Amino acid sequence: MRLRDAFRQAHRDLGNFLEAEVLLKSCLGLERQDIYLNPDRGLTRYELNLLEEAIEKRKDRLPLAYITGKKEFYSLGFRVTPDTFIPRPETEFIVDAVLEKLPITNYQLPITIVDLGTGCGNIAITLARYIPHSRIYATDISKKALEVAEENARKHRVEDRITFLEGDLFSPLENYYLEGKIDFLISNPPYVMRSEINSLMPEVANYEPHIALDGGEDGLFFYGRIIEKAPLYLKPRGYLILELGIDQASQAKETVKKTLEFESIEVVKDYSQIERVIVARRAVISNQ
Ligand SMILES: C[S@@+](CC[C@H](N)C(=O)[O-])C[C@H]1O[C@@H](n2cnc3c(N)ncnc32)[C@H](O)[C@@H]1O
Repeated sequence: MRLRDAFRQAHRDLGNFLEAEVLLKSCLGLERQDIYLNPDRGLTRYELNLLEEAIEKRKDRLPLAYITGKKEFYSLGFRVTPDTFIPRPETEFIVDAVLEKLPITNYQLPITIVDLGTGCGNIAITLARYIPHSRIYATDISKKALEVAEENARKHRVEDRITFLEGDLFSPLENYYLEGKIDFLISNPPYVMRSEINSLMPEVANYEPHIALDGGEDGLFFYGRIIEKAPLYLKPRGYLILELGIDQASQAKETVKKTLEFESIEVVKDYSQIERVIVARRAVISNQ
C-alpha cells in the first residue's frame, strides 16, 4: 500500500484527519513533511500492521498520547504511558504563574520548588528548564509514574536538579529539612469528584489512572490537605500555586483564607475563562 492510500484509509477509519496524520507519523517514524513529499512511498507489511493496530486501539478510544507514547507540554516533548496522567494545556498556567512571580532582583539565588503529584514530570521538568537556578523536589504516589518522570528529566537534561520522591503528598519530603524553605509549592492534584469519574470521556474514564483523577467525594480532598500543610513548608512570601477543577475556586479560596497564613490570593482564568489556578502568597508574619 502507498502512503497516500494508507493516509486516506486511516482518515476514513478514524473520521479525523489530524489523528490519522499523527498515527501515520508515529507508526512510520516520519516527520509531517515526509507524508506530503513522498505520497507514493510504499509501506512494508510490518508498517501496515503497526498502523492497523494503532487505528484499532484509537477506535477503542485509547488516547492518542498513549498510542504514540508522547505528549507536548509548554512546547517540550514528554514521554507518557498508561501509568501517567496525560498533561493538559490548562496546566501550562501553573508554569506561567511561577515564571510571573519569580523574583527577578535576586536572580542568582537558588529557587526551591516542590511539585506534589508530578505525574510524568511535565511541570517540574519545564520549570527546571526555564529556571536554571532552581532546585526541585517532585513527589508522586505512583512509582511507575515516577520512573517515567525520571526518564523525561534525563531526556531534558535536568535530572541533576530534580529529586523525585515516592509517597503520599508531603510525606517523602520529611528527611529533606524543607520546612520554611520553599519558594514555590505547586500541584495539579487529582480533583474529579469520585462519583463523576465514570461519566468522563471514555479516553479518560477507561484509560487514565484513576489515582490521578480521584479527588474524593467532593473533589476537594487534596486541596484541604495541601493547603493545611503549605504554610509549614513555604518561605515567608513564598507562593502556593494549585490547579483547580471547574467551580472549585471559591472553596479553595475559602480554605486558603481560613489558614490566616496568606497575605494575598489571586485566581487565574484559563483560555476558556474558567478559574483554573489559585496563586496564594504566604504572609511574612502569621495572622493567627
Ligand atoms: C492530575 S495528575 C497531575 C500530573 C502532572 N503533575 C500534570 O499536571 O500533568 C495528579 C498526580 O497526582 C498523583 N497522586 C495521586 N494521589 C497522590 C498522593 N496521595 N500523593 C502524591 N501524589 C499523588 C497521581 O499519581 C498523579 O500523577
